[in-house]
Amino acid sequence: MLKGKKIVLGVSGGIAAYKACELVSRLMKLNAEVHVVMTDSACKFVTPLTLRSLSLNQVAVDMFDTSSYWEIEHISLAKLADVFVIAPATANIIGKLASGIADDMLSTTVMATKAKVIIAPAMNTNMYENPVLQRNMKQLETLGYSMVLPEDGRLACGDVGKGKMADPAVIEKAIIDYLNQKQDMVGKTVLLTAGPTREAIDPVRFISNNSTGKMGYAIAEKAAQRGAKVLLVSGPVNINPPYGVLKYDVVSAQEMYDKVMELFGECDIVIKAAAVADYAPVTPYSQKVKKESPELELKLKKNPDILYELGKIKGDKIIVGFAMETENLTENAALKIKKKNLDLIVANDLNEPGAGFAADTNVVKIIDSKGNIESIPQKSKLEIADIILDRIKGIKRT
Ligand code: CTP
Repeated sequence: MLKGKKIVLGVSGGIAAYKACELVSRLMKLNAEVHVVMTDSACKFVTPLTLRSLSLNQVAVDMFDTSSYWEIEHISLAKLADVFVIAPATANIIGKLASGIADDMLSTTVMATKAKVIIAPAMNTNMYENPVLQRNMKQLETLGYSMVLPEDGRLACGDVGKGKMADPAVIEKAIIDYLNQKQDMVGKTVLLTAGPTREAIDPVRFISNNSTGKMGYAIAEKAAQRGAKVLLVSGPVNINPPYGVLKYDVVSAQEMYDKVMELFGECDIVIKAAAVADYAPVTPYSQKVKKESPELELKLKKNPDILYELGKIKGDKIIVGFAMETENLTENAALKIKKKNLDLIVANDLNEPGAGFAADTNVVKIIDSKGNIESIPQKSKLEIADIILDRIKGIKRT
């Protein structure tokens, strides 16, 4: 699967360094060529000999070690990489990369590479949640580095929380996806919305819907894999953003509107998979509503229709909407294309088995601005995401 692909794996000093051994072993089984670079601290957790034995290549640690391996000093390692992976990545190496510090073999090699860099952070929960680390990660993502985010779990220090390095199988998948993907969206910026919005009734209650964000996140994942820069404006969901995607969290339709309008100028393609609440309470209560009266009336006002507003200023951008319907699917979806000045609409019938919010599959119809209707039978949301992106690529302006 990875025959001929050259992977440079940076291992920094955390207890998860032992999982780097499994990662190397997995990549070797796929016939990749793996070169390992270790920091001094990583060598305290696993020995270079272990990783050398697994990768069948010299392991680079010391910048100034002239005795061992001249051919793969840092510049040649940086150049040969088809992809550069850092697993585990400590707060220290992430901080160094974000601030341009190159003071050892690993940081110097990463700085010298033009290859895609995939980072799998691993650390104590408090360190992971530290705003400085979060800022550094965000900054690296803005620069095009991809993250395979850590999982929740029991950490080596005994704490339970986020910070456990992603499973080697997940990192392996990220590497395979990157190396095997079509690269037909390089240079394009895709603005995506996903998930529900929440409209506050009072400080503890809201109006929302059942959207899980899965469809939008699947498109984000595929667009990033195909080389696009992805700006994902997301309502509250319970899934991790895919690696390589820049995520902006919003809660209400108004916040989504504001963020989308702010980012609209820099994108080529907009895909609005979010289930935006159409109405919001006119004036949310400032204090928690007490159950004193037998009836409670809520007055709602219409939210801005984000897609409609974008359609008015679209210029030569591609705009794709979604339509959720429970009746007259194609007629209603076709009306939305015209009304909102869209290029494509992806219509889901919520009554169809295997379709809808929570499922991992979907059944959709893709309708274009000329009225052509393509029915896509039940497939995984990731497969449907790829088909939607193929159809977008088929539009002349892309
Ligand atoms: N949409 C939006 N802003 C809103 C409502 C919807 O941008 N306030 C977008 C959705 O993200 C989706 C498309 O419009 O891409 C259609 O959403 P849908 O809920 O199916 O339709 P509505 O336009 O809200 O119309 P209705 O609820 O009357 O069917």
